[in-house]
Amino acid sequence: MCGIVGFIGSSEAYPILIKGLHRLEYRGYDSAGVAMINPDNRVNVYKTRGKVADLEEYVADKDVSGTIGIAHTRWATHGEPNSTNAHPHVSGNGKIALVHNGTIENYAVLKQALVNHGVQFSSDTDTEVLVKLIEYIKETTNSSTVDAIRSALKTVIGAFAIAVIDRDNPDQLIAARKSSPLVIGLGETGSYLASDATPLVEYTDRVVYLRDDELAILSRHEPLQVINLDNEPANVDIQTLRMSVSELEKGGYPHFMLKEIFEQPRTLRDCIRGRVVNNNTEIKLSGIMDNAEAFKNVGRIVIVACGTSWHAALIGKRLIQDLGKIAVEVEYASEFRYSNPVLNTNDIVIAISQSGETADTLAAIKLARSKGAMVYGVVNAVGSSIARESDTGTYIHVGPEIGVASTKAFTGQVTVLAMMALAIGQLRGTLSKEDTAVIASSIQKLPDYIEETLKLDPLIKELSQTYTYVHNFLYLGRGYNYPTALEGALKLKEISYIHAEGYPAAEMKHGPIALIDRELPTVVIAPHDDLYEKVISNIQQVKARGGEVIAIVTRGDKTISGIADHIIEMPKVIEQLSPIVAAIPLQLLAYHIAIKKGCNVDMPRNLAKSVTVE
Ligand code: M6R
Repeated sequence: MCGIVGFIGSSEAYPILIKGLHRLEYRGYDSAGVAMINPDNRVNVYKTRGKVADLEEYVADKDVSGTIGIAHTRWATHGEPNSTNAHPHVSGNGKIALVHNGTIENYAVLKQALVNHGVQFSSDTDTEVLVKLIEYIKETTNSSTVDAIRSALKTVIGAFAIAVIDRDNPDQLIAARKSSPLVIGLGETGSYLASDATPLVEYTDRVVYLRDDELAILSRHEPLQVINLDNEPANVDIQTLRMSVSELEKGGYPHFMLKEIFEQPRTLRDCIRGRVVNNNTEIKLSGIMDNAEAFKNVGRIVIVACGTSWHAALIGKRLIQDLGKIAVEVEYASEFRYSNPVLNTNDIVIAISQSGETADTLAAIKLARSKGAMVYGVVNAVGSSIARESDTGTYIHVGPEIGVASTKAFTGQVTVLAMMALAIGQLRGTLSKEDTAVIASSIQKLPDYIEETLKLDPLIKELSQTYTYVHNFLYLGRGYNYPTALEGALKLKEISYIHAEGYPAAEMKHGPIALIDRELPTVVIAPHDDLYEKVISNIQQVKARGGEVIAIVTRGDKTISGIADHIIEMPKVIEQLSPIVAAIPLQLLAYHIAIKKGCNVDMPRNLAKSVTVE
């Protein structure tokens, strides 16, 4: 939620800041702003409602000079998206500018205290409170900017990643974090900071991930200094960033979402590489092998996640129960943290997250660890907060996902969960060598299955025309593909704004069947698996009530093609892995419908890629 960028060095800051904002726009895009200290030591602040491109247009004729600056792209939490509430926020004397990602929970109390001291406010944001608090402390205690920031942050309850510039110290860019991500890049011509590493990648591969309650001083002439809020020096751990610029560009596709859908054969190869071994008879996951005793003696597994990752978790539950014979529960991370969960020290909590920064998931694992459970992260973003807060885990390694609608992360997550279930089954002796080999070989073939499935794109594009102006959709699936139905519905609603509901196919008769008529198309995921015959009955029930059916079936299916209105044939794949392949046509259907409706699929309204607020 919200992206922040900062730069100090010998180059002009503005082009670096704008390019960085474009990279971070997936985190929020309702308003944007920049602040630079120009050569005359003036703080120039420009901000506007809308996207980063709107900001660029707005500043086209303005003074954007300066070699130190900060920038922000916003996803509104406090106050409507307008130019007043946009960041940077500025102190009353105009000297200090600040950008913030996170939420100051006690802002109302702090604001009232400042108002009582005569401080005036112009915006509805929690962030303006912070910059004015820093100014107030600095002026009333005659302290340095760094000390004023430290003192202010000690009074703050909530989450923050901030970057601050001060006209009194034009050679210092100050940053701090608590529960919101911040990474610093050390380059040849200056130092950079950003909410994630994507804005830094073309300038440096030397990065430092700031930890909670740390404050960094990026100086023009001094090495990076990191301290804690008590002014004690902290360790500066310089890591090597493994990311390339090409991963962050559209590579000839009109949208990141389409690029990411089509990337899936490659991303799954990366995800599987080195993990399905010994002639496809064994799974090697260090997170499981290094914790063999914990998995052998586990009481139960609880999986916490949000959104698409939660759908992957539902599939993971079935996989681990079927193959590893362990009781698994799946919880929305946001509910888990407030449910007073009962956890034992032999329970394992698996946290699934693409971004590794989702606030609810992060809070859930902190809670799990405080109760003594081991936390296993299934994360995409390397070095992210959830990855670092987990005891162990497995990266899905599908590369940066920029489109707000999660696609390649979902297939990567389910693939990792399948490998984990196999590895756990091997370890606990709940799986025969033969069964392991069958599933492991199928995992190895997943990239090929997906390549074949992607050839359906023209057909799905054509089909999408029929449904562009529909107002509601129903998605049905059973067994392993009930979560796939939920995921298909989520994809459609988040990018096309068409209401869509996912349901277990057999539950339809307990309520949603009342909705069925000619106006409500139903997508049924119906591969040839154990529940196939039963799903056919569900399709018949829809057809008998005049509903239209789009069925995703196993190639060569003769029965459903005689009943459904439209057939999408996917390759034959074992039941446990079928959600990974069935997800592809659902992603394409949502994409093409949204495009036909003229929606911005990469930046759907009201959404942000990384939900770092509660
Ligand atoms: O980064 P995470 O996997 O933790 O994100 C969880 C959800 O916010 C995310 O999956 C969201 O639902 C996506 N927009 C779905 O496409």
